[in-house]
Amino acid sequence: MIPRIERVDDIAAHAAELFQETMLESVRERDTFAVALAGGTTPLPLYRRLAARADLPWDRARVFIGDERFVPADHADSNFGSIRSALLDHVPVDPDRVHPWPIQAEPEASADAYAAVLDQELAGAPFDLVLLGLGTDGHTAGIFPGTGTVHSHAATVASRPDGAEHPRLSMTPRRLSESRVAAFLVSGDDKRDALAGLLAEDGDREALPARAIAALERLVVITDLDVRAG
Ligand code: 6PG
Repeated sequence: MIPRIERVDDIAAHAAELFQETMLESVRERDTFAVALAGGTTPLPLYRRLAARADLPWDRARVFIGDERFVPADHADSNFGSIRSALLDHVPVDPDRVHPWPIQAEPEASADAYAAVLDQELAGAPFDLVLLGLGTDGHTAGIFPGTGTVHSHAATVASRPDGAEHPRLSMTPRRLSESRVAAFLVSGDDKRDALAGLLAEDGDREALPARAIAALERLVVITDLDVRAG
């Protein structure tokens, strides 16, 4: 599935519009909004922008984290820690409907525990929105080239990518693709090659895991880079 490119100057502003649009539609149609937030730094300006939108129906939101580093929430490298301080501490979400990854004795135990959370909270229902980043090596969420996780049928996996500072916990492309809308947020010249690979007509998903992401209704790339599809 080739994503639609939305080339914009202000990724945070454009992504905030998409977030609001999908949130309001989901709440209107289903009285709920299940969102999987992306880690990394690219989404942080979006989260800070959304932190000023206490007017949105946050009480209907169910918040999940697409992937996590195997570190406690108060560790500087924690995706949940960053998302909490940029967004969740500033909006009226119900804490019982915010689901960080449980950091247990082993990464594999954490992945199994989060799969149980997803099953309990969603019972296989799709997300309404999944936000994703893109690594310079073509990884997305915590699915890295060469880890053998890109084709997993599980909902979550743990892996130890070469060169990664921490073991990684991630929803799989299969589970992340079970979303009405999925949006990659991609910024920075260092992502140019990875983005071209993501948008190419053909390519190997193991080598560029972001290519394994699909969506039920809409798959977009929101970027400030000038790239061509195909
Ligand atoms: C993470 C993310 C990861 C991220 C990409 C891009 O835990 O770091 O899940 O997949 O989205 O590495 O990161 P930046 O947005 O920081 O470039």
